[in-house]
Amino acid sequence: MKKTIAVIVGTRPEAIKLAPVIRALGFSDHLQPITISTSQHGEMVEQIFENFGITADVDLQVMRPRQKLWDLTAILSTELGAYFSDHPVDAVLVQGDTTSALIGGLSAFYHKIPVGHVEAGLRSHDRYSPFPEELNRTLLTRIAQWHFAPTPYAADLLRSENIDNATIYITGNTVVDALHWMSRHLRHSEIRPGILNGQRKLVLVTCHRRENIGLPMRSVALAIKHLADSHPEAHFLFPMHPNPGVRELIQPILSKQNGVTLCEPLNYEEFLSALHQSYFVISDSGGVQEEATALGKPVLVLRRETERPEGVEAGTLRLVGTDVQEILRAGHELLVNPESHGAMSNGSGVFGDGKAAQKIQKILEQNLSTANRILPFKKPTGELVLME
Ligand code: UD1
Ligand code: UDP
Repeated sequence: MKKTIAVIVGTRPEAIKLAPVIRALGFSDHLQPITISTSQHGEMVEQIFENFGITADVDLQVMRPRQKLWDLTAILSTELGAYFSDHPVDAVLVQGDTTSALIGGLSAFYHKIPVGHVEAGLRSHDRYSPFPEELNRTLLTRIAQWHFAPTPYAADLLRSENIDNATIYITGNTVVDALHWMSRHLRHSEIRPGILNGQRKLVLVTCHRRENIGLPMRSVALAIKHLADSHPEAHFLFPMHPNPGVRELIQPILSKQNGVTLCEPLNYEEFLSALHQSYFVISDSGGVQEEATALGKPVLVLRRETERPEGVEAGTLRLVGTDVQEILRAGHELLVNPESHGAMSNGSGVFGDGKAAQKIQKILEQNLSTANRILPFKKPTGELVLME
């Protein structure tokens, strides 16, 4: 009988980064994925699943407009707890650092189901930035039995937190698998009509982080406005996150601005197409930093720190924070100085080779078939014992 792996998907980035894993597990002779969509981001996740030909097996419908973090946490805990009580799966996979991921891992732990953490070992070392993600992923490290680190650096961080080396696997980031899959399988459709201006240099903008909502995001909008005013040769395309808190800050400043197009979230295919066509990117997104690094697109990162220093070292990411003047200076530099732009435009494989999902599938097959839910457990003495 195949072992069942519940894969928890809450938000847009989890759907993108877990889609290749769900597909790989689906091809296994030994494992059976059960895709649980919490619908923390309902529509955006559905769109991505459609792109990848995935149908959720379970939909928990937890999203509510203007939902508070603690309410989201509570409803996820109730729904996932009940699901695992009724469906004793063999393992649970979670990805990254969202509330769906944390509560997915915690609910599995309450049912003594082993947890695999995809994209393990990312740290900013600032518990309030990104918020609440830094704490979520740190807690998931304590919960998980298998840590799928995207890079050697992430694996080192896990070891520095005394995680047993035998449970850490360097797989690459599954976002690179998603990128490759998309380029191979889809229609390379044009972006919906009316939002690109082929004559101008395209600057792709995204901004959604909770800790940037308020004055920082207002500064970002003002900086884009000034850049658009002073650079008529550029076109700023800003697909807005559906969070109403984001839109209330962005729209009053940018909705009537020449050279700026605000739009609904692009589907993944459209977004990648825009990224390919862009001259550079301004973003506080995690996934976009990885994709842009893989494709060699410069990113001005709207944060003071990043848990993806590999991209800074590779030269594609530059941390600019949210100060208006700093964004203006960095944006102007990229637009007027081809050398500065060229220096940030070298694609890099630091985030993976596109085979992460396959590696995760093989590791789970090995662990679940041999251990058969008997998990290695180290007593404080360091002596290895087997526990049921
Ligand atoms: C969430 C994740 C964050 C991830 C991001 C990716 C948490 C706490 N945060 O942030 O780690 O980087 O997704 O995009 O898990 N909303 C809608 N429609 C939607 C999505 C959200 O109306 O499709 C509203 C929600 O109802 C809520 C607000 O936006 O009021 C924030 O949504 P939430 O999922 O809590 O956090 P995000 O900022 O989207
Ligand atoms: N993305 C998308 N459409 C958009 C904006 C982003 O498909 O309009 C994709 C992008 O390619 C990346 C992911 O969404 O893979 C990033 O999601 P987000 O920025 O919401 O979350 P984060 O990565 O910061 O957690």
